[in-house]
Amino acid sequence: MRKAALILLGSVLAAGCARLSTENPPIEIFPDMKRQPKFKPQSANEWLAERGITLRPVPGTVAVGHLDQDEAFYTGAKNGLYVGRNPLPIDMETLKRGQERFNIYCAPCHDRTGSGRGIVGSRSMWLANNLHDQRIKDMVDGEIFQVITYGRRTMPSYRFQIPPRDRWAIVAYVRALQRTTSGTIEDVPADLRRELR
Ligand code: HEC
Repeated sequence: MRKAALILLGSVLAAGCARLSTENPPIEIFPDMKRQPKFKPQSANEWLAERGITLRPVPGTVAVGHLDQDEAFYTGAKNGLYVGRNPLPIDMETLKRGQERFNIYCAPCHDRTGSGRGIVGSRSMWLANNLHDQRIKDMVDGEIFQVITYGRRTMPSYRFQIPPRDRWAIVAYVRALQRTTSGTIEDVPADLRRELR
């Protein structure tokens, strides 16, 4: 009886080996979820209108935390006109933040004073503008915000590195820098004037 069982088992095993060259997939007794009906990212799917599994978001979709409705605040312009004045309160906190961010993001090219003679220009032909130029002083706050946001000519865009609130803080600090080359003695509080001379 035991011999018969062994022969049976042996022939089953041998049959398995004999079929090595078959095109059919082997019978899986424990599939272990090796095959699952699913779509892989970006694979084709002819049932869907877009013929692909990766659907575009419905027009007007807003990512969580990105309902940037305040057009003036987020773009620096409204109805096609630059925002005239910085929407942030111009206080010490804003200026300190702006100074810190300016020194990180702008100083490499524009120099910490805004002169445009930063380290990048000193080692390459990539020359930044002097932020004390009358033309740039004459810009309204929203225009400077847009230069940071979208870049201009050879000036790169910084909208992905610098969030909007920080961009406005930088604008406030650029204004403070500009005052250093256009201020008059009248800007100095009377009790401090004597110390200057
Ligand atoms: C990688 C170098 C670089 C960095 C960093 C940089 N700038 Fe500039 N920026 C330039 C160059 C170059 C120009 C001159 C653009 C031109 O006229 O072609 C420029 C021009 C400008 C102008 C004048 C635009 C005009 O209309 O002429 C402003 C304002 C300005 N930058 C502000 C900033 C501020 C604020 C920052 C920091 C957020 C900054 N830049 C960071 C390179 C840089």
